[in-house]
Amino acid sequence: MPFTPDNELDLLFPAALISDQVKSQLHNDVHIRPLASTDHRRGHLAVLSVLTVATDLGEAAWVAQFNAMRAAPQTYYSLVIVDKASDRIVGAGALFVERKFLRGLGSVGHIEDIAVDKQQQGKKLGIRIIDALTYISESAGCYKTILNCSDANIPFYIKCGYEKKENEMAKYAPVKSAQSPRL
Ligand SMILES: CC(C)(COP(=O)(O)OP(=O)(O)OC[C@H]1O[C@@H](n2cnc3c(N)ncnc32)[C@H](O)[C@@H]1OP(=O)(O)O)[C@@H](O)C(=O)NCCC(=O)NCCS
Repeated sequence: MPFTPDNELDLLFPAALISDQVKSQLHNDVHIRPLASTDHRRGHLAVLSVLTVATDLGEAAWVAQFNAMRAAPQTYYSLVIVDKASDRIVGAGALFVERKFLRGLGSVGHIEDIAVDKQQQGKKLGIRIIDALTYISESAGCYKTILNCSDANIPFYIKCGYEKKENEMAKYAPVKSAQSPRL
């Protein structure tokens, strides 16, 4: 499939929110942009599956989720890195902006679901995704940007300028079937 430029896509959020500095640091054979409504076809779930269970419920269900996210403006910022030669997604990440009552009605950015295709790991795509999401978070006025990660990924996030703070707690809902994901 030939590379599809941003102006031919239906995007989750304005492409202008992607940092020019991050774009200029990426090598020429890849492109960073907001998630598009047709990205189910470009392997979005396959990339996310390096992270955890990413069950494919079909394109229509995926698009319904995309539309639900876009219906909550200035809240969901999922972005992707696309390999131009194949028009396939090779990296993905998301920012969720949470509005608060404290800190003078402040906002917090939550980084989620960072994944780079196995063949493309170690080529600085991960750090560019984090830089792009942090830029969106700070541009949106968030007073901090936070994320959870495994111990093994702490050195990666330190390279991205993050520091270790506090602990994560989790309580999973009762398992309804043997197939229910636990992450
Ligand atoms: C973790 C992940 C997102 C990193 O992306 P990546 O594109 O491979 O990483 P980058 O090439 O951008 O790495 C940036 C720097 O961090 C370092 N780094 C990356 N992962 C590391 C790790 N696990 N331990 C130590 N250093 C690491 C790189 O060596 C590089 O250092 P350098 O700038 O000195 O060369 C990617 O490996 C991945 O998708 N892993 C599987 C899913 C996952 O664990 N996601 C994170 C969920 S919290």
